[in-house]
Amino acid sequence: MRKKQIKWVLAIMACLLTLGTVMPVGFVKAEETDAEYQKIKDAGELVVGLSADYAPYEFHAEVNGTDTIVGFDVSIAQKIADDLGVKLKIEELGFDALLGALKTGKIDLIISGMTPTEERLKEVDFSDPYLTSSQKVVIRKADADKYKTVNDFKGQSVGAQKQTTQEELVKTELVGATAVSLQKVPDLIMNLTNKKVEGVVLEQPVAEAYVDRDSSLTLADVTFENGTKQTAIAMPKNSPVLKEKINASIKEIDDKGLMKTYQAEANKLMFQKDQNFFQKYYKYYVNGAGYTIFLAIIGVFFGAIFGAILALIKLGKIRILRWIATAYIEYVRGTPLLVQIFIVYFGSGIIGIDLSKLAAGCIALALNSAAYVAEIIRAGISAVNKGQMEAARSLGMNQRQAMQFIIFPQAIKNILPALGNEFVTVIKESSVVSVIGVSELIFQAGNVQGASFKPFLPYVIVSLIYFVLTFSMSRLLGVAERRMNTND
Ligand code: ARG
Repeated sequence: MRKKQIKWVLAIMACLLTLGTVMPVGFVKAEETDAEYQKIKDAGELVVGLSADYAPYEFHAEVNGTDTIVGFDVSIAQKIADDLGVKLKIEELGFDALLGALKTGKIDLIISGMTPTEERLKEVDFSDPYLTSSQKVVIRKADADKYKTVNDFKGQSVGAQKQTTQEELVKTELVGATAVSLQKVPDLIMNLTNKKVEGVVLEQPVAEAYVDRDSSLTLADVTFENGTKQTAIAMPKNSPVLKEKINASIKEIDDKGLMKTYQAEANKLMFQKDQNFFQKYYKYYVNGAGYTIFLAIIGVFFGAIFGAILALIKLGKIRILRWIATAYIEYVRGTPLLVQIFIVYFGSGIIGIDLSKLAAGCIALALNSAAYVAEIIRAGISAVNKGQMEAARSLGMNQRQAMQFIIFPQAIKNILPALGNEFVTVIKESSVVSVIGVSELIFQAGNVQGASFKPFLPYVIVSLIYFVLTFSMSRLLGVAERRMNTND
């Protein structure tokens, strides 16, 4: 009897043991990870995308002498990265580019004051909300008596940030108003102070920040019917584990009342004592100018190489190649650089190449410039009088020698000045790369706008810098050209 009992106990224990070891592998393991979470863990880095034009959510401020993206969204991002045990990397993009970046895997999360809406939920997943806020219309103080209800904006222009819930509100609730949608919040405020729009719809904390900063602005006494909006973190669909971890972090933030601390920190940074404008922001411009020059040099250098190849193909004899080169040149010249930049940046993600913003910017500029350079070179060569080739050939040179010793030295005189102009053009065009968040001059001007709450001045300064760059470049080219002419 006793032996039998022991046998039973042993059998049950064995069963439990196997269950205990097999079960976790079979069942629990499946929920310990998902592709997105694993990717973050493997990289040891959480890439959070945001649009840092939204104080106190996310904005630029000087911290220990260096420009830093701060705000309570950044504090939340840091907390989540800490909880996941990885490093935090912030990617700055325009608000309207964030969803695309998340869907193409450029970023892991969006923490950018984003409201879960039905349309967005079709594309991405959202965490539990970490904030609820109301919506306000910022107006000029002088108009305080004019705008008291949603109906008072009939026939007026009202601004909102592109592809936001605020834009939606202007369209649905401000009856008869015209929506003016812009990419950056500081540009909207500039339109307001310059009387281009009569009001700007913003999330309450942001609206208050601007009103606090600019004594000529105030909040209209207007309430929206659907004005209460939640804010949450966007993540790729089908990431249950990641979502669970993020919600756990949010819950902890809630439970411990950390949001208050984060908001207080953000406010303190927002109202830092103002130094002299130039003292405070010159670094942004120096930095931006560096990137702009870098983009232009790389763009033109590789553009020239690729362009030369295209030109030679076009002048060459292989029909199919000629056809391809022509198609490329026409296509690139016939589409906006802006679109090409998006195609390179997001397209590379889709085909699985992980390009940085800067690399994508350089490549797009070079690919674009190549089309123009190809035409410059081709035109430069064609412009050399036909008789030159005939004369060279009748002197007994073969085609190649004629090209090398007679045609090309003459063509180069047509080509070089035009190539110099191309460089000047690319300096200016590189400003478009700001859309994907490369920190060149225009992008930095945006940062200064956000940090200084001054909408206009940063652009004036940036225009001066561009002018200095392009003007000195043209002068230099002028000198080089004269030299070449005297060499004749
Ligand atoms: N909550 C609004 C939305 O989701 C606006 C958010 C804008 N955020 C920003 N960082 N600019 O549409």
